[in-house]
Amino acid sequence: MEKRLLLEVRNLSVYYGPLRALNDISFHVGEGELVCMIGPNGAGKSTALKAVAGLVRPRSGEILYRGDNIKGLHPETLVRLGMAIVPEGRRVFHTMTVLENLEMGAYSRRDGHSKREIEEVLELFPSLKDRRRQKAGTLSTGEQQMLAFGRALMSKPKLLLADEPSVGLSPYYINIVSEKLKEINKRGTGILLVEQNARMALEVSHRGYIFKIGEIMMEGSGKGLLENAEIRRVFLGGR
Ligand SMILES: Nc1ncnc2c1ncn2[C@@H]1O[C@H](COP(=O)(O)OP(=O)(O)OP(=O)(O)O)[C@@H](O)[C@H]1O
Ligand SMILES: [Mg+2]
Repeated sequence: MEKRLLLEVRNLSVYYGPLRALNDISFHVGEGELVCMIGPNGAGKSTALKAVAGLVRPRSGEILYRGDNIKGLHPETLVRLGMAIVPEGRRVFHTMTVLENLEMGAYSRRDGHSKREIEEVLELFPSLKDRRRQKAGTLSTGEQQMLAFGRALMSKPKLLLADEPSVGLSPYYINIVSEKLKEINKRGTGILLVEQNARMALEVSHRGYIFKIGEIMMEGSGKGLLENAEIRRVFLGGR
């Protein structure tokens, strides 16, 4: 049987008023694949992620999720279909506890079902376990990022979208983020990762897309892109 794509985006264009943020780009994520998007500021990476999550409306193009057209569906509907986002800047609820934040991620599930998901999330992020009754605002930035991942995983997504999860984190937590991405992916969740940290992203990803303003200029395996001379020069500090 032909392997079905988890996500297929064809000829996507997005405008903000008169500004064209994305010009006819195509990309895909296979079942169980970890795919990254890297590129300069303002290139449209977050816009691509938001279009998939139903947070911005495309001008044109097709967005297929497990073969079905999902363009125009409400973000909450997409969560129910198995999509979850770890938003830029984490956006955990500071005055709520860790547990309450996790429960927010389960809003589309029936009462009582969330206990089991909470157990699974706390098993994946043991540092949150001891802090589960603590207000999220008292967590370190790295721990808040773990919580943002945990909250997204509460809906048991098949596709996880993550926007710059490493930004602002110490090297210690960047390393944990990269380990957790791999672990989440190994458990069967496809991941579309937008990153500033090109090296980390390409190291964990099966495949990557390189953006330039509004377009995708290159695509390749994570390893292939890490070894590419131009990518090394522009994104990896020439090393
Ligand atoms: N809500 C908005 N209204 C108007 N313009 C926007 C909006 N969001 C993004 N843009 C513009 O669209 C373009 C693409 O932005 P986007 O945030 O997708 O880029 P990015 O690749 O994620 O950049 P960064 O690396 O800085 O996060 C930029 O020119 C940006 O200024
Ligand atoms: Mg962005």
